[in-house]
Parts: sequence; C-alpha cells; structure tokens
Amino acid sequence: MEQEPEQDRAVNTKVHYLDFSQKENFTSSKKLEEDSENSALTTVKKEIFTLKPSIPVYFIRPAAIKRAAQFFLQNFQSQSNKSDVLYSVKSNPDVVVLRHLFDSGIRHFDVASLVEIKLIRELFDKEAKMYFMHPVKSRESIFEAYYNFGIRDFSLDSFDELKKILEVTNNARDLGLHVRLAIPNSHSAIDLSRKFGILPSKAIALVRKARMAAKNFGICFHVGSQCMDPAQYRTALTITKDLLEKSKVKLDVLDIGGGFPSSYPGMTPPNLQSYFDEIFDSIAQLNLDPSCRLWCEPGRALVAEAGSLLVRVEGRKDNMLFLNDGTYGGLFDAGVPGFIYPTNCLRIKGKTDLSENKAPFGFYGPTCDSLDVMKGPFQLPENISEGDYIEIGQLGAYSRSIRTEFNGFDKNLQIEVSDAPLVSMYLEGKEQKEEKEISI
Ligand SMILES: Cc1ncc(COP(=O)(O)O)c(C=O)c1O
Repeated sequence: MEQEPEQDRAVNTKVHYLDFSQKENFTSSKKLEEDSENSALTTVKKEIFTLKPSIPVYFIRPAAIKRAAQFFLQNFQSQSNKSDVLYSVKSNPDVVVLRHLFDSGIRHFDVASLVEIKLIRELFDKEAKMYFMHPVKSRESIFEAYYNFGIRDFSLDSFDELKKILEVTNNARDLGLHVRLAIPNSHSAIDLSRKFGILPSKAIALVRKARMAAKNFGICFHVGSQCMDPAQYRTALTITKDLLEKSKVKLDVLDIGGGFPSSYPGMTPPNLQSYFDEIFDSIAQLNLDPSCRLWCEPGRALVAEAGSLLVRVEGRKDNMLFLNDGTYGGLFDAGVPGFIYPTNCLRIKGKTDLSENKAPFGFYGPTCDSLDVMKGPFQLPENISEGDYIEIGQLGAYSRSIRTEFNGFDKNLQIEVSDAPLVSMYLEGKEQKEEKEISI
C-alpha cells in the first residue's frame, strides 16, 4: 500500500471550483493573475491523499501549457512571412487554461460561438484578437461578432455562407474572408472534412467571389484532429497551391488549421518539429507574396498534455470498472472515437498493494445509460478495485469542454499542480523523468 506523504502546508494549492455554478465567480476574480508567479504548486499525489475526492478532479499543469505555447510561438515562424498562432478555444475554454496561455504569449483566438467570443473579451479585453472560424454561423452571431465585438475574420465554405456574411454586415469592405477547403483527413483520428469545407475541385468560383468581397482573403483547411502524418499538411498545401494557380487570386492569409497531435497509447506521432519542417518546406513551394500572413489553429497540441483527470473506481465486474466519470462527463473521446489514454493508478486504502502486473480493462461511466462505456483497453493493475484512483492523462483537450449535466454527474474540481504530464510531446524522456521526480 502507498504511504501517505507528509503534508506540506507551504505548498500552493490552487483549487478552482467545484461545479459550473462557481465558475462565474472565478472568472471575475483576479486571483490567478496575482499568484501566477507561483513558487511550488501542489502535486497530484498530495491532493489525492488530502482530499480523497469522491468527484472527478482535473489536474492542470501550468508549466506544460507554457512549454507548448512557447514551442508553437517559436517554431511556427517563417523567414519570408509573418505568422500567428491562434489557440482553438473549443479544445479547452477553461478560464485558468486560457489565462496561462495568454500569460505564455498567446494573443490570437479561434472562436466558434458567441459564448467563446464573450469569454475571451471578458478575460482579455482588446488585448486578444479573435477570428470566427466556424464555417456555418447563425446570422445573429455574425451580427454580434461584427458590430459588438469588432471581429472582422470569418471562415466560410459555401456561396450561401458568403451571402449571409455580406448581408448581415451590409457588404462591409473591411472583412477577412477565409474559404475552408475539404482536404483529405485520412491520417487523422477525427475527420473534419466530411462536415466542413468545399471540395477544392469545386472551389474556384467561390474563391474568386470571396476574393472580390474581402479586404483580406484567406484559404484555410483542417487536416483532421490528431493528425498522425506530417505529410498530410504537404498534401493540403499542394492542393492549395493548385487551387491558387487555377483561380489566379492574391492570398492575404494562409491558415493551415489545427490537427497537431498529442501522444496516446497506440498513437505515438512523429515529433512536432517534423510537422513544421514539412509545413514550411511545402509553403515555400507556394511562392506567397511576402505580405501574406501564415496562421495555424492548434487546440489539442497546446493543452492536451497539460491536463489529466482523476477518477475513482466505484465497482468492478470482471475487467470492467465502474468509474465516477464517463462519456457524458470528461471521457467522451474514450467512448465515442475510442481514444485510449495513459493511466496511473493509486491506492490509498486497503491491505494489499496494487499489483505490478497489468491487465486490460474497459470502463463504464456513472450514468444509467448503457452507451456510457469506454472499451479501452486501459492497462491497469490486475487487482484494481473499488476505492482506487486512476489518473487519466492527456485530458487537457476535449474533456472539460464536452461535459454534460446528464444524470447529475457534473460536479468536478480543478487543481493546478507541478507534476510532469503522464506523456509528453515536448519533454525528452530524461527531462520528463526529472520533472516527475521533483513532483513526488
Ligand atoms: C476550425 C478549427 N480550428 C482548429 C481546431 C483545433 O483542432 P485540433 O485540436 O486538432 O488542433 C478545430 C477543431 O475542431 C477546428 O474546428
């Protein structure tokens, strides 16, 4: 059995809120800014022993957010064109995460709804620039974005959407209009080209019309989320080159979207530098005007490894574990697209230690819906049982933002910690081990 660690009261415990109703109070508080230069944050292990939480707990690693943001800001750079990194807010709109990204230098935000727009404005006022990159928007949201929030950049993938934007903005002459292409997503875990984008072979007329209406004209695409092959960006950029040559328009913005991967069991991507090498090599073939700006819109790669989710085992039937969180909570991607996550198991009570031998397990969520199931397999100690905790890594992206209140299981807690991520795209093996040792 694990020994209970000495409680160090000098550590800085930042507990954020227990449920969504308290989120608002935190948003208006300046607390995070005041102590963002924190010295020693608490650790996952200390908090489990102290709180013995019965609700799911998010552990947020500010150092990991900073590392990822700086990596993108430093590496998404070209000698010939200016570039911007747009954080895709949908991947994690948590105020703490957003503030850490901002403090790490992120100033541009890809937003998809009025709620996201209002949140970013409330947090950062005019110091943050927003881009409305949802290709199909309501008239009301376009109106508010343009007139009340000063947003000028909109994506679109059809004549109807172009018409809608122009009608709502009264044919404004200061628009940034970005035509989203549907390009192959075949090497990505989540395909985003079936729902959005115009086929490049059909895009020439739309490109020309958008060019005529726009002050700044852009092409954008998304290679699909969790893109496992850097060459996918080359394919997209080659398609873009062909389209630009055929349509003979001047490009003001080239937006290569998101899709940058994180690392999961069974999905270990090539290193991120190889993505940038492939991207900039392909962009060089486009002979862009030096005034053309380059944008990327990472979500997952900026925040996934900065967050983990602690769940508790409430019951076991054979190799299925009943957890206190599931697909209607923070584990949607474990259920629907079937992501497998790194895990770390901890036992705080009981007579026996957790077994060194691992076995494959599946999970059931706490709701009464039998669709609330995650097949895994998740490798965990073979004697895992009720009361044991499982820290599930890489859940800084597409977890908190997807939670529902279904069946009353919406309560959760969030704590900032100094631990290393369970798996990292940014730390070498040795660095990760060192960071892990510091946190124990
Ligand atoms: C328009 C847009 N940009 C960026 C992203 C972020 O993608 P990722 O998290 O794969 O980087 C998404 C994700 O759905 C998106 O729809």
